[in-house]
Amino acid sequence: MRRAVCPGSFDPVTNGHLDVFARAAKIADEVVIVVAINKNKSGTFNIEERMEMLREVVAPYPNIRVDSFMGLLVDYCKANDVQAIVKGLRAVTDFDYELQMAQMNYRLTEIETLFVSTNPIYSYLSSSLIKEVATYGGDIDGLLPGSVQERLLARIAENKK
Ligand code: PNS
Repeated sequence: MRRAVCPGSFDPVTNGHLDVFARAAKIADEVVIVVAINKNKSGTFNIEERMEMLREVVAPYPNIRVDSFMGLLVDYCKANDVQAIVKGLRAVTDFDYELQMAQMNYRLTEIETLFVSTNPIYSYLSSSLIKEVATYGGDIDGLLPGSVQERLLARIAENKK
């Protein structure tokens, strides 16, 4: 069984992430979306909320599941028999950092990182940019899965109270 992970913060999951997950699910037998727990960063959604939204949106894919991890990604991969890390590359701006992480991860445990070229319709998307636009009332239709958009708008409204 070839198992791959798609790691990230997913605060929250976007349609761009979802595109990468679906493509990873065609390559690997099983894909685990792993949410990185960062104790120094609280985020818009807590880890449980992020995982709940992820579980909802990957429900149609039988070979995708959701988990979380703390510490080094390579340690999670080793402990869970993961053969590859799959990442989306949006543009050259992603490249330097992603290559650096891929090379470091390879040095640590010889795990492979596979890059999926993000669908151009999503190449400008990031969770933080979507949150900024939504906070100031901009149109974010079509950028997030519907249920995630509802939750984000509700959270922004709560935070403004
Ligand atoms: O969605 P993000 O925040 O860009 O994801 C970055 C993430 C979580 C994939 C990366 O920071 C990571 O792998 N963190 C876990 C800690 C780790 O393994 N660091 C060494 C990376 S070479």
